[in-house]
Amino acid sequence: MSQGERGHPLFARYYARMIPMLDRDLAPTRAELLRGVRGDVIEVGAGTGSTFPHYPPEVGRILAVEPEGRLREVAEDAAGRSPIPIEVVPGTAARLPAVDASFDVAVTSLVLCSVPDQAAALAELARVLRPGGELRFFEHVRAGTPGRQRVQDVLDATLWPRMVGGCRTGRDTVAAVRRAGFDLERLDRLGRADTGMPFPASPQVLGIARRPSRP
Ligand SMILES: C[S@@+](CC[C@H](N)C(=O)[O-])C[C@H]1O[C@@H](n2cnc3c(N)ncnc32)[C@H](O)[C@@H]1O
Repeated sequence: MSQGERGHPLFARYYARMIPMLDRDLAPTRAELLRGVRGDVIEVGAGTGSTFPHYPPEVGRILAVEPEGRLREVAEDAAGRSPIPIEVVPGTAARLPAVDASFDVAVTSLVLCSVPDQAAALAELARVLRPGGELRFFEHVRAGTPGRQRVQDVLDATLWPRMVGGCRTGRDTVAAVRRAGFDLERLDRLGRADTGMPFPASPQVLGIARRPSRP
């Protein structure tokens, strides 16, 4: 079992304390991530449920998958305050507790940086989406300049993943989404001015990608 699959309980505790502060800056981005979402939704790596207040009323139900017990507890409280039925369950992106083609929309928010195997996670997200279903993602990604990329590579090879819950700062997540067979429909590039998130967790992307209707 990899470190990512065993979890990061210390980081989870720290994150649960820190997130109310981050959420103030992130609220507009979370709302934009979920604008127009409808139907059955699976959110992977839901954390403390920070996105829950931003789901539109057209959403029928949400399955919120979160591997860390401490974060699940906080997410369960948040689910209880939502008018939308939200079930918070344990699980990891590499093995989602859902049958094939059972959701209209899959959501990741600051998660694809932390999964141990991005390709496996994206294949699972495609598996549980109905043909034509949407992947909505908000992720921090690889920097745009060689100097900053070098800094991200050094951090990723040393302390950062151990200190920040398995996070890797230098991933080209948009390329991984495309490689997984999704059609990219929308991509907004964001930075610290939009989200409050500084380098090395900047820049970020906000995207909509679709599972093709036919293979
Ligand atoms: C930076 S937090 C983001 C939480 C939340 N989505 C948000 O936007 O605030 C990263 C989240 O990914 C989760 N995570 C880490 N590895 C995971 C995996 N292999 N499968 C699913 N979730 C994972 C963590 O437990 C944590 O909740």
